[in-house]
Amino acid sequence: MVYVAVMGYGTIGSGVVEILDRNRSEVAKGAGEEVSVKYVLDLRDFPGDPVEEKLIHDFHILLEDPEVSVVVEAMGGLNPAYPFAKACLEAGKHVVTSNKALVAAHGTELLKIAREHHVNFLFEASVGGGIPIIRPLYRCLKGERIEEITGILNGTTNYILTKMDKEGSSFEAALKEAQDLGYAERNPEADVEGYDTCRKIAILTAMATGKEVNYEDIYTEGITRITDVDFRYAEQMGTSVKLFGSSRMDGEQVHAWVAPVMIGKNHPLYAVSDVFNGILVKGNMLGTSMFYGSGAGKLPTASAVVADIIEAVENRNSTVPLGWTEEKLEIAGMDTSAHRYFVRVSGKAEEKKAAVEKAFGEVQVIVLDGMDEFAVLTKKLAEADFRREATAFDTECCKNGESGILQMIRAEL
Ligand code: HSE
Repeated sequence: MVYVAVMGYGTIGSGVVEILDRNRSEVAKGAGEEVSVKYVLDLRDFPGDPVEEKLIHDFHILLEDPEVSVVVEAMGGLNPAYPFAKACLEAGKHVVTSNKALVAAHGTELLKIAREHHVNFLFEASVGGGIPIIRPLYRCLKGERIEEITGILNGTTNYILTKMDKEGSSFEAALKEAQDLGYAERNPEADVEGYDTCRKIAILTAMATGKEVNYEDIYTEGITRITDVDFRYAEQMGTSVKLFGSSRMDGEQVHAWVAPVMIGKNHPLYAVSDVFNGILVKGNMLGTSMFYGSGAGKLPTASAVVADIIEAVENRNSTVPLGWTEEKLEIAGMDTSAHRYFVRVSGKAEEKKAAVEKAFGEVQVIVLDGMDEFAVLTKKLAEADFRREATAFDTECCKNGESGILQMIRAEL
């Protein structure tokens, strides 16, 4: 019998307890022996819930119990998740987590401690919820040189953008609906400002390169300035706008960023809608591969945690070689990242197209009926060049007090 302790009885922790009970025989078959929850650690009480029998409020009970060999960290946040996870690894217990904030901020150290203590620190559920992506990177794609990972990694923002796209909702209305349905937090900043996606692409980039990624080095732009007008243009163009977390390994240079991107129907991530996540991985031999599924939610995310528990049991006496070293990955600045740009400009296309083309070169013009503005799609330009030309255009345009560029969205069309 393997004894597990679950720290945090929230959405994911309770999902793990449920799966270990409902899929008891499948889990036992996978692990080679029965897996049982011995403790559930939470500050709260749960009167009437069967978990009461296993509920503890003192971390030291599970830490000091030699029977507990695997600890699930499902508390979220960094404190006390970080000191608790660290103490468990140092005590020779395997730690499995769904907490991307913990992995992005302290993954390097926790992986090192796990190696030193011949245990495992596993985090499949930290990216893409129930979608297998971490394990494919360290097992199935081991022989590949990863050239690109681009994902729709946040279900809440994907739900909001899908509503704006399919129903013409405003950002505010779509956000409210996401909150009412329980997808978005009351304080939705981490999702809508792209911080959640930033941590997830930091983890994937570290997995792909084998080096430590400081998530603060990743350019991060959320979806709060995307409007229903942008989607009216997108509809006319047969495109959509999605929040991407992306890293592109071009020889020695690695670009990693989070930003809304306009994509067409032929893009592999175009059909990833609502709360679903999709992750595209490009390997130098593999070509493009897609991972798709439920990127959040109780049972899908808990399912990935349970798979990691089994991985830990199967490798109880050794550390699975995964993750990254302490060598720091240098992330190239956005200035050298090249994109096409969807740009909305105030005024009439027939009056301003020449000035726009003087700035950005040949462009495709998109006009919406009844609007005192138009949009263009530029060719591919490095961001430094785009910004320089945009500033020059704006300065020229605004001489008479007019506003020039109203919006810019990177485009992959
Ligand atoms: N807030 C996250 C999302 C939860 O919406 O995808 C899963 O990490």
